[in-house]
Amino acid sequence: MQSFEFHCPTEVVFGKSTEQKTAQEIKKFGGSRVFLIYGGGSAVHSGLIGRMKDNLREADLPYEMMGGVQPNPRLSFAREAVKRAQTFGADFILAVGGGSVIDTAKAVAIGLADDSRDIWDYWCKKAPVTGAAPVGVVLTIPASGSETSDSAVLTDEESKRKRGLSTDFNRPRFAVLNPELTYTLPPFQLSCGITDMLMHTLDRYFTVDCNNQLTDEIAEAVMRIIIRNGQIAHCHPHDYDAMSELMWCGSISHNGLTGLGNEKDFSVHQLGHELSAKFDIAHGASLSAVWDSWANYASPSAPQRFARYAENVWGVHNGSDEEKSRSGIALTIRFFRFLGMPTCFSELQGVGIQPDAVLHQMADSCMYSGKRTVGTFCKLDIPAAHEIYQNAN
Ligand code: NZQ
Ligand code: ZN
Repeated sequence: MQSFEFHCPTEVVFGKSTEQKTAQEIKKFGGSRVFLIYGGGSAVHSGLIGRMKDNLREADLPYEMMGGVQPNPRLSFAREAVKRAQTFGADFILAVGGGSVIDTAKAVAIGLADDSRDIWDYWCKKAPVTGAAPVGVVLTIPASGSETSDSAVLTDEESKRKRGLSTDFNRPRFAVLNPELTYTLPPFQLSCGITDMLMHTLDRYFTVDCNNQLTDEIAEAVMRIIIRNGQIAHCHPHDYDAMSELMWCGSISHNGLTGLGNEKDFSVHQLGHELSAKFDIAHGASLSAVWDSWANYASPSAPQRFARYAENVWGVHNGSDEEKSRSGIALTIRFFRFLGMPTCFSELQGVGIQPDAVLHQMADSCMYSGKRTVGTFCKLDIPAAHEIYQNAN
């Protein structure tokens, strides 16, 4: 097991009607002027925003609201939100929504703490983050894990770059998880969320450190529970128990726990971000569309690890390591198809089969034109990324 430090301070407030505790939580963490951020309208239509306003008003908490965060959240919106939060004098940022809203809130929090720089500088690693205003979350979709994670992902729509920023300053103070708030989700968004949380654990599980019993077995349990309850929730989206398991798995999958003592890989995420940056597709879909190709590229050099995954997650007990490995990959793909997720570019709505020049350009961009490689389990450079994109095409 490698050395690690693990500090996940987010207070999780889980259960029915827990959004009613939001104002109380904000006060607990010292908030007195709240900047509330939400998305494109689902939280307004469901009545959640109305309940949030009542909750803040009853607690005598002044607030300002800004809606309109788009999926794959835009840098320009976050910049504007920083200005509005500053003008209002906010000392607490409340995100009501999914990963895109939460990541925008995290960007605003960083911008509020130091307005001497453009926030994108932090995402381009031109400066280290040295502070952030407190953020609280009312989660409406189990997916990104941003409600407890240390990262935030933004897209610069001008340069078409999608970049993540990891820092402990990104950890929200609290996360309200009421599984009932997910009942209005469109089926495709639920499937994207299930795919994303599974991938957060997969991207940590495929690691070169294979002597890590507790972390491995936690990861395997989390994946089995995502798959079991993903199947139930896909057919019965108002099943409270299934949605509860998914919501909790979504947070656990990306708070760091499922990778402690391991070197995380995350190349599938990096490959997927290029697709989202270029074609503005949903994050979960970008991952399922490249995973099969990545797994077929990575598995021949590590069949034992893929065989263990097949055995302990999918119950494949017969055959050689290579055979089990192939079965585990095939069962994962069958699960994505069951969820209605794309497993290659031609199945990706609005993308389709791409000319080779585009694949080259994405591989180049993913590797910052050769300035970096991605992955640790299976290190990828530009030719490797290009081959994976080709096989996914
Ligand atoms: O905008 P509204 O109208 O609210 O609709 C949203 C949006 O269209 C809808 N939605 C959310 N909750 C709903 C709902 N519709 C009806 N009922 C509800 N209860 O779902 C759509 C997608 O929302 P979004 O926030 O984009 O989804 P998700 O949570 O999957 O977040 C995706 C973003 O998070 C980033 C992704 O790259 C992507 O930009 N990620 C963030 C991470 C992090 N910060 O740790 C890690 C992840 O790997 C990921 O990269
Ligand atoms: Zn993800």
